[in-house]
Amino acid sequence: MSAKFHFINHACFTIESNGKTAIFDPFLEGNPEGLKANDIKADYVFVSHAHFDHIADAFAIAKKNNATIITTAEIANLAGENGCNAHAMHLGGTFQFPFGKVRIAMAFHGSGIAGGHACGFVVDFYGTKLYYAGDTALFSDMQLLQRQDAFDYAVLPIGGNFTMDPKDATIAAEFLQAKYVIPVHYNTWPPIKQDANAFKQDVEQKTKSKVLVVNPGETVELK
Ligand code: NI
Ligand code: MN
Repeated sequence: MSAKFHFINHACFTIESNGKTAIFDPFLEGNPEGLKANDIKADYVFVSHAHFDHIADAFAIAKKNNATIITTAEIANLAGENGCNAHAMHLGGTFQFPFGKVRIAMAFHGSGIAGGHACGFVVDFYGTKLYYAGDTALFSDMQLLQRQDAFDYAVLPIGGNFTMDPKDATIAAEFLQAKYVIPVHYNTWPPIKQDANAFKQDVEQKTKSKVLVVNPGETVELK
């Protein structure tokens, strides 16, 4: 089944398929459509770590929609304390949800919460399979992810400063061997200003992956 990928802003995006919507790392500040938490429809809310630019609107959206937050244990506990439904998982863990399988992937980054760990997600959302790296440095074990759960799309941060920059994300793309790469987490603020089209050229020259440059506010169809 195909899915719609809607890029809201920064590292926040939704995937819609089979009448259900998952939102990743809800952070609505500055989004070009002026979306507020109340405008968002979501059945599932993925939170990779507790830095504000990933969790800011997560609880409001989850509460309003009675959605399930899927995240690491420490953030799931915090979500519960804030009156949200949450499914706690952790690094290396997999679980079969009604839409498909989720794996919590490693990410090398701060957790933003005591005792926690940042993560990425490999998600099969009604047959659309993607890896969202979250905020992370480049790490060589990305090479293992396709072996564990094959995916077609890799959503990668390219902003630098806090995460991989385009050069490192190109090496990540070499490791990941996804059909498509979608860059996120860039151009939100001056320290993470990057040229996504230059990244696209580089990745498409060095790998077999195609890069989908999706601007905030735009939607693309994932097959
Ligand atoms: Ni972060
Ligand atoms: Mn971030």
